[in-house]
Amino acid sequence: MEKTNGRRVILFPLPLQGCINPMIQLAKILHSRGFSITVIHTRFNAPKASSHPLFTFLQIPDGLSEAETRTRDVTLLITLLNQRCESPFRECLTKLFAESETEEEKQRTSCLIDDSNWLFTQSVAESFNLPRFVLCTYKFTFFLGHLLVPQLRREGFLPFPDSEAEDLVPVFPPLRKKDLSRIMRNSRQSELLDSYLQKILETTKRASGIIVMSCEELDRDSLAESNEVFTFPIFPIGPSHIHDVQASSSSLFEPDQSCIPWLDKRETRSVTYVSLGSIVTISESELLEIACGLSNTNLSFLWVVRPGSVHGRDWIESLPQGFIESLDEKGKIVKWAPQKEVLAHRAIGGFLTHNGWNSTVESICEGVPMISLPFAWDQMLNARFVSDVWRIGIHLEGRIERREIERAVRRLMLGSEGEGIRERINALRDEVRRSVQRGGSSSRYLDDLVDRILSF
Ligand code: UDX
Repeated sequence: MEKTNGRRVILFPLPLQGCINPMIQLAKILHSRGFSITVIHTRFNAPKASSHPLFTFLQIPDGLSEAETRTRDVTLLITLLNQRCESPFRECLTKLFAESETEEEKQRTSCLIDDSNWLFTQSVAESFNLPRFVLCTYKFTFFLGHLLVPQLRREGFLPFPDSEAEDLVPVFPPLRKKDLSRIMRNSRQSELLDSYLQKILETTKRASGIIVMSCEELDRDSLAESNEVFTFPIFPIGPSHIHDVQASSSSLFEPDQSCIPWLDKRETRSVTYVSLGSIVTISESELLEIACGLSNTNLSFLWVVRPGSVHGRDWIESLPQGFIESLDEKGKIVKWAPQKEVLAHRAIGGFLTHNGWNSTVESICEGVPMISLPFAWDQMLNARFVSDVWRIGIHLEGRIERREIERAVRRLMLGSEGEGIRERINALRDEVRRSVQRGGSSSRYLDDLVDRILSF
């Protein structure tokens, strides 16, 4: 049993897998430092309370219909959640504080920690005199950079001519202009996006600090620039999953554990792991190109195809008849994998990824070289860091074609190029892992964060 410090922290994750994982991990870290944890969450994508018996979970209604929960438009989903969750969230806090009977007990709640995409929480927290920290689940370079998009548009950077597609975006390197246009293309209406980003900037500026799931070793430049935008402290406490806390899953889907005995039978560094995270969707023809590309390498692969991630299909039924049988023992397709365990397995030699920030740091922390296939939003920037800055992966440049995929996998898994990439990612892995050890930069920032929360 951990020693408690008599303080409670309230967490309110955005209900997306990539945001729930780091938030629950942060809860475990703070719990190990003596804080009581209360997680307020929506009905949609509710975290599994039974996996975390030491935390209190409070569910609020989110007003989403069944059809709305199935939308593939994440911007729309976040907009609806922001419109419908404010009152339930406020009522939940009112009830929570009313139930704390004495003034002393009320004061035991130190702060609220929630996602930058919640637009109403700052005002609600202020009305309860509750300090609020923003949890940044992106690479911090993206967090700072994406808040500049409205300004870039005002200054006429968007749109730009095709001839400039490969050029760097001036205030947002190493992002290229073609990457920025893909980020923008996915937004339904640029004006809506701009006002949404403006609101994130305004509300974040009123917070007490930002907790970043990154470290100085990965984000040095942007952390140094942060004081031009924010006047409060930033706490890059490192990739949350490598802190030494109790292991428990915050997965919304059931991971297929048969991956592990299957990997046990494979040679060291012989398998390419393929996963496009929890949000990306692809067309039937893209599914087929990936399938043929992987199978044509004649190398082993473990591929996660999330149910519902192929347009108009339940799963992989559109692959040609006999495809699965033809793979024999060479390839395995699952609906969801225990990703962190998979990446840590000695049999994994490469990761074909969409470069969500969690997947990117999980890969770095295990020294697994990447093939980058980003689709949208922060993934575009993470992929540039992987290929152009850290040089720990190969960029597919959006080409979902069987020959390109086959070539990239072979380059990474067989060639001398792959060896160089592996050496660089192992060096980066060691630096990042050192940062969370006693005396490391992330460990010191975590101590500062705990002191700051206790000071309220
Ligand atoms: C997206 C963004 O790209 C991300 O940067 C942002 O912070 C949240 O939204 P997502 O598509 O969920 O995220 O990708 P990622 O950030 O990589 O998170 C996926 C998580 O699901 C990872 O923690 C990964 O380990 C886990 N996962 C994925 C599994 O456990 N099993 C799987 O089969 C696939």
